[in-house]
Amino acid sequence: MADNEREFITTGEQPDIPRSKWSGKLAFILAGAASAVGLGNLWRFPTLAARYGGGTFLITYIILAFTIGISLLLLETALGRKTQQSVIGAYASFGKKYRWIGKLACIVPFIITPYYCIIGGWVTRYAVGYLTDGPVAIADGGGFFKGFITDPASSFAFMLVFMAITFIVVAMGVEGGIEKANFVMMPALLVVAVGISVFVLMQPGAAQGAAYYLTPDFSKISPALLVGALGQMFYSLSLAMGIMVTYGSYLDKKESLTGSVASIAGFDSVVSFLAGLMIVPVAFMAFGSADAVAAKSGPSLMFITLPGVFESMGGAAPIIGFLFFLLVLFAALTSSISLTEACVSIVADGTHWTRRRSLIFCIVVIVVVGGFVNAGYNVLSFIQPLGEGSTLLDLFDFLSNSVIMPIVALVTCIFVGWIVKPKTLIDEVRLSSPFRFAKVWTVIIKYVAPVFMVIILVSYVAQTFGLVNF
Ligand code: PFF
Repeated sequence: MADNEREFITTGEQPDIPRSKWSGKLAFILAGAASAVGLGNLWRFPTLAARYGGGTFLITYIILAFTIGISLLLLETALGRKTQQSVIGAYASFGKKYRWIGKLACIVPFIITPYYCIIGGWVTRYAVGYLTDGPVAIADGGGFFKGFITDPASSFAFMLVFMAITFIVVAMGVEGGIEKANFVMMPALLVVAVGISVFVLMQPGAAQGAAYYLTPDFSKISPALLVGALGQMFYSLSLAMGIMVTYGSYLDKKESLTGSVASIAGFDSVVSFLAGLMIVPVAFMAFGSADAVAAKSGPSLMFITLPGVFESMGGAAPIIGFLFFLLVLFAALTSSISLTEACVSIVADGTHWTRRRSLIFCIVVIVVVGGFVNAGYNVLSFIQPLGEGSTLLDLFDFLSNSVIMPIVALVTCIFVGWIVKPKTLIDEVRLSSPFRFAKVWTVIIKYVAPVFMVIILVSYVAQTFGLVNF
């Protein structure tokens, strides 16, 4: 797709302007999977699984992803395909008074992209570090990590490197850049993930960790586990931020929606499963027991614990460390590319600027906001917006994942379930495939999902302000 054609997409609210399409179902699935598979799978999922009882978390997550998650994915893509509009126009096409729902969803990519690129910068630093500094320097119990994030110049520089790669791919256009990048990085990612999982499982002591990860213990089910799994599901499937509505609008009416969303959710879950399979056993090797794993696992698992265990693998350490962070880097890049693309299309839709101008505007915003949030770890570390020890990044993460996304998801379900009515979208889905689960889907959208959304919203906010402690 040429860039001038692409402009029709991004500014395509007028029905008489021809919209470009995905080159096929595969391109759609790959783009959906590329947006879904990211730091959420490789960093967040294993941390949560380690903390919330391994197999118990895994099974809860899979059940939620293939009931509520996949239903919302289908809702968003069907809404996009039906209206042939990206997110703001999609809601507005049912009446101008619904435009605000799309606008609310549009805020999310602008909040996530800057901080996503900061973590992308950390991952870049580690991938480079295995080549330049070596595994011993990195595995120093946290000093390397702290030294890096508190150094304003070098953390900012690595954030910029990560952003630059992202912006270059987005600037190359959808077919010339994004589709090609996905086509290389997604299969590579899967191969490396399988390879590292096999390698880790062959290490002494890994079997116990794998057993913890694979065996559910239903006595471990808790409200915190459920809320954690729900939040993870949204984040991981890139729901409630308008992206999948926009992606659905580029899909041809003859391509099966049900099959496509099942493939996207499947790909995403496989990568999360593999990430857990390599990281939870590593946490077990480091901490020694299930209880210690649950108690000590946190965001530092990837940046501090893992390098420590890699280092103990001797000669394999530099290769395994480099490959692991390269894998995470690919996953983070495919997501940041899709996030940036979402920002660009939102700006182009709203302003009718050219794609180029919209991209330049987004670059400026992302770099400035990213620089500000990054400073929260160093020069602005006195700003602790969510209580002692919290950072600006925590605030951004909280606003998008815990506040705006559940609200958007709740409103979307009410909108489709009770205002435009599920049948409108069921008919759309049935244009291209049978939809045997239409009744179940209707119940999920009208009743189950809204209740769960209210649970997440209330519990996240209450937890953040210390009203409950899971
Ligand atoms: N789903 C991504 C992850 O799991 O890391 C995060 C994400 C990517 C959210 C792209 C939103 C998005 F548009």
